[in-house]
Amino acid sequence: MTNFWKSLKKPFTVLAPMEDVTDTVFRQIVAKYSKPDVFFTEFVSVDGLLSEGFEKVSTRLQFSKTEKPLIAQIWGNNPEKFYQTALMISKMGFDGIDINMGCPDKNVVKKGSGGALILTPNLAKEIVIATKKGAGGLPVSVKTRIGMRSIATEEWIGFLLSLDLDALTIHGRTVKEKSKVLAHWDEIGAAVKLRDKISPKTLIIGNGDVMSYKQAQEYAKKYGVDGIMIGRGVFNNLWVFNPKIREEDISPEMRIEALITHINLFEKTWGINKNYDILKKFFKAYISGFDGSKTLRTKLMDTKTPAEALNILSPKKP
Ligand SMILES: Cc1cc2nc3c(=O)[nH]c(=O)nc-3n(C[C@H](O)[C@H](O)[C@H](O)COP(=O)(O)O)c2cc1C
Repeated sequence: MTNFWKSLKKPFTVLAPMEDVTDTVFRQIVAKYSKPDVFFTEFVSVDGLLSEGFEKVSTRLQFSKTEKPLIAQIWGNNPEKFYQTALMISKMGFDGIDINMGCPDKNVVKKGSGGALILTPNLAKEIVIATKKGAGGLPVSVKTRIGMRSIATEEWIGFLLSLDLDALTIHGRTVKEKSKVLAHWDEIGAAVKLRDKISPKTLIIGNGDVMSYKQAQEYAKKYGVDGIMIGRGVFNNLWVFNPKIREEDISPEMRIEALITHINLFEKTWGINKNYDILKKFFKAYISGFDGSKTLRTKLMDTKTPAEALNILSPKKP
């Protein structure tokens, strides 16, 4: 099996996993307007996938061929379930499996999953081993933070680097910090130095507060990471991964056209099976930063169906 991580040109860019944001619809939109080098799914619960709720949970694993290479991100706390899930995912056409060890959501943390795994390294290790066993040769990576309550880069990242991972994404904040402080990029730089000593073949992806393609290039150079992951930056600028389009080049027409494409794809893909409010969360990302954008956005927020929104954006001729 080919390991796509090894063929990426450095520094590469990655679209961050974001729940209720980076589903197949949004990933297709990002692929169309500003393709990153790697995509991640939203995080998917191993408990959910192995339960009667499989059908609903597995919509998070839906994808099309434009969103490639694509990594399935999974979370949980039970190594056997990671094994079973990895076995299942390895037959679905993904390019890799990523384990979430950074989520600060209290419902996830209180189960001992996500960021809480930072406090249980032995369990984290068992989960990595079980996932690799089920993955059948697919690359396995981890996305984490630099500590739980306080910064513990050397201890925690050093430990993860002993697990022979293909890639490690480091969001430069502790779990406790959530998104409240600026990401500690100096700690990400320190993690790169640890990597050079402990596991030179593990790729390091830096994450946190990167808002432009130019900044991604600068940070990759300054901190020595192999790749840069961008999350909230795509809300600000859908074209963030496109080196040819600067923020000031984005016209209102480009934004409106992209939103129309998104709404049509949302309707075609999910129909009534996804709450319209999830789509509405994107309106601010597209409709902002130009004269009249606030008024237009207010009108769009009052709509109740995709068809109503489309009629405002491109009214049907009588
Ligand atoms: C709405 C939202 C949902 C997120 N969902 C996930 C997730 O499912 N899995 C994950 O590892 N991180 C998740 N994150 C964290 C992001 O992947 C990323 O680490 C974080 O936003 C910092 O990067 P940024 O400053 O570029 O946004 C989420 C973040 C946001 C804002």
